[in-house]
Amino acid sequence: MADSPQITVTRRLLFNAAHRVHNPALSDEENQRLFGKCNNPNWHGHNYTLDVSVRGTVDPRTGYVIDLSVLKRIVQDRVVERVDHRNFNLDVDFMKGVIPTSENIVVGMWRELAPAVQPGTLVKLVLWETSNNYVEYTGE
Ligand code: NI
Repeated sequence: MADSPQITVTRRLLFNAAHRVHNPALSDEENQRLFGKCNNPNWHGHNYTLDVSVRGTVDPRTGYVIDLSVLKRIVQDRVVERVDHRNFNLDVDFMKGVIPTSENIVVGMWRELAPAVQPGTLVKLVLWETSNNYVEYTGE
């Protein structure tokens, strides 16, 4: 075992939000062909699950990499409260100008969270849009 073991800890948070997957640079027909039901003009919603993973060494004083209730508060303040019960196309400042697919949402959330988890390091976000579909991002 390493002298300073690197441990990854993960906190899960849930939220729901609306969106429309639509590229305004394309015609209505092209959008419909590419995105189908997800292009519905009157929006649709998802119950999202977000898993936030932080890696670091164990603080000898606490035995924690990061207190998971502290991590929960960071994710709540920086991301969840800005998206929960909102519309990704209209309401979320960090999603301005991008198509609100899970891919783009997870990158937007990364940018909000990565600076906030020191001395740990944000190493992975997993965003579940449905129980069948999820995306992972590791900051690359
Ligand atoms: Ni959708």
